Amino acid sequence: MDHLHLYTFQIDLRSRLDRPLSECLAPEERARAASYRTLELSRFAVVARGLLRHVLSRYAGIAPADIAFSHNDHGKPFLALPGGAPSPIGFNMSHSGAMVAIAVGEDAAIGVDIECPREIGEIDTLIERFFTMPERESLRDLSGYRRADGFFRLWTRKEAVLKASGFGLSVDPVQVDAVAERVVLGDGTAAGGDFPPTFFVTDISTPGIFHGALASGRPDALVHSIVDCEDPADFLGRPELR
Ligand SMILES: CC(C)(COP(=O)(O)OP(=O)(O)OC[C@H]1O[C@@H](n2cnc3c(N)ncnc32)[C@H](O)[C@@H]1OP(=O)(O)O)[C@@H](O)C(=O)NCCC(=O)NCCS
Repeated sequence: MDHLHLYTFQIDLRSRLDRPLSECLAPEERARAASYRTLELSRFAVVARGLLRHVLSRYAGIAPADIAFSHNDHGKPFLALPGGAPSPIGFNMSHSGAMVAIAVGEDAAIGVDIECPREIGEIDTLIERFFTMPERESLRDLSGYRRADGFFRLWTRKEAVLKASGFGLSVDPVQVDAVAERVVLGDGTAAGGDFPPTFFVTDISTPGIFHGALASGRPDALVHSIVDCEDPADFLGRPELR
């Protein structure tokens, strides 16, 4: 696999996918899903996690139920090989609304973030608090929906970088200047993180459907294949992407 693969799923809970997909979940994943506030959130969590296991199973060459995960100190999940060593296959996932995005590649430093378009109150306060001077400057002349689009574009780029680094939102988003294609985290020392501090970011938004960005420690993350699965049930019968 010489570049990143990105899977986007639109989850329709009417299709009752949670039954077949829950079979491959570990007991703690089922318990976590069951702890969510509403039945809908619980079912969504089951479908998302089941799809993640099915996607990873195609790369790892093992059954979805046999996939094992480990996590870093900030909760970033990794694929673990039998015996617990980290796998060379990296991945990251994001969910928003009814969408799930899963990025996979031969790089541990992968981050993906998606946000479904929605009303954001206090957008100016968020920009003031979390955006760098060059980011604010790039939004300065935008108003209305263009400003909201610009906000989501930069926000998902920031979050994709923070997720690629493994720190997530334990690092202040203002440490990421997401205007450039090549993003250096903080002052370049990556605060003792697991990965080199430079990330390559690309936009993966589908206008009107979701805003999103993909980040990787490898420049070839800018080349990616997208598998757009409107109905996740179709994916389960699809051939592998290479
Ligand atoms: C990860 C984080 C950025 C999620 O943001 P979000 O916009 O709410 O959610 P997204 O849907 O984009 O991403 C969630 C997924 O990211 C992954 N994830 C979790 N922690 C992550 C991290 N530190 N870095 C990268 N990815 C992470 C998981 O797969 C998670 O899915 P899951 O909840 O189904 O397991 C945010 O919750 C965070 O920073 N958490 C870590 C905070 C921390 O340091 N916790 C320490 C105790 S574990």
